Amino acid sequence: MDVVTAKYVISSPSVDLCPKPDKPEYAFIGRSNVGKSSLINMITKNSSLAKTSNTPGKTQLINHFLINNEFYIVDLPGYGFAKVSQNTRAVWEKMIEGYIKERKSLVTVFVLIDSRHEPQKLDLEFLRKLGDWGVAFNMVFTKADKSTQREAAKHARQFIEAMKLEWEFIPRSFITSAVKFHGRKEILGYIKELNDQVAEAGSQIADS
Ligand code: GTP
Ligand code: MG
Repeated sequence: MDVVTAKYVISSPSVDLCPKPDKPEYAFIGRSNVGKSSLINMITKNSSLAKTSNTPGKTQLINHFLINNEFYIVDLPGYGFAKVSQNTRAVWEKMIEGYIKERKSLVTVFVLIDSRHEPQKLDLEFLRKLGDWGVAFNMVFTKADKSTQREAAKHARQFIEAMKLEWEFIPRSFITSAVKFHGRKEILGYIKELNDQVAEAGSQIADS
């Protein structure tokens, strides 16, 4: 699958203000500055679609992008950003939690993890929350160009090993570089597979 059209739709402060949930949706989440917005721009090959920044805390709302008039990609604020006030952090966390728990059309959440680091407690804790809420997710190890391929792969492996201590099933993961366009084909191929599954399930319901 390629991205033919990618349009910014709306930025919403809460899940009830998001677009009608009538298309498959894929959300990108992870700590502040991990590269969520950059990855969305890389996938859509549009460097100005999602706003990126060197300073953490750039994305502050739930941002919907419509791809090929067929599915939504959603850019979310980061978690665990220490430099905003406790109040702001609580507002963001509530917004993220409300969105993830209540968004009916959400197919999977791509959880971004910085491939330069060893497994971080905050990321593992976030996955635990997704598990508690019964939300499907996949891991994306970002910024692979910032270290050697070997190092990035090692950190991805270590993270998965840490997950195995508490997870029976390890979802599919991806290693990406927004600079080198690594992982783009794989993520788009995976989204296509899921879109097809959603369409198939929808037609079965219509037939019954
Ligand atoms: P918030 O919205 O603030 O939570 O951040 P974010 O997760 O959306 O990160 P963003 O995409 O804004 O990227 C943060 C910084 O990391 C920017 O300076 C990007 O240029 C840089 N960056 C993101 N992805 C990559 C990557 O794959 N490789 C390199 N070298 N830099 C990256
Ligand atoms: Mg962002």
